[in-house]
Amino acid sequence: MEKTLIILKPDCMEKRLAGAVLDRFQKAGFDIVAAKLMQLNAELLREHYAHIADKPFFPALAEFMGSRPVLVVVLRGEGVIAKVRELLGPTDSTKAPKGTIRGDYGTDVSVNICHASDSPESAAAEIQRFFRAEEVFA
Ligand code: TYD
Repeated sequence: MEKTLIILKPDCMEKRLAGAVLDRFQKAGFDIVAAKLMQLNAELLREHYAHIADKPFFPALAEFMGSRPVLVVVLRGEGVIAKVRELLGPTDSTKAPKGTIRGDYGTDVSVNICHASDSPESAAAEIQRFFRAEEVFA
């Protein structure tokens, strides 16, 4: 069964929307198989965002992502990687349709409620980055 990693970002936590966002994923039929509250440090963020670490927006993004504890979760289910990204909507919340999570709750392209893995390869790497094997109940 497929697994994906999501991060409920600082804006999601500050707005107390963790339950609302997780509810959408659970109602879509996905199971929570790991969860952890973490404040992400600079080293972990550089690794997690290695593919965009040279972009001009990276320093502001890293500051935002490390600004308060976030909820890191592994979800499991059939087609969960693609389906979770579909439920989130596009990266830029201002372009995300109403009814998607970012369209309903997000602010802009950085402050966009939730991260989700974008492929089986990144899901595997991201789950390993944030959880020890025995912390994932699947
Ligand atoms: P990306 O992998 O393109 O999007 P997604 O989160 O939908 O997989 O970008 C990763 C994160 O980088 C995104 O969630 C927020 C941040 N970001 C910015 O802050 N500014 C930008 O212009 C872009 C493209 C991304």
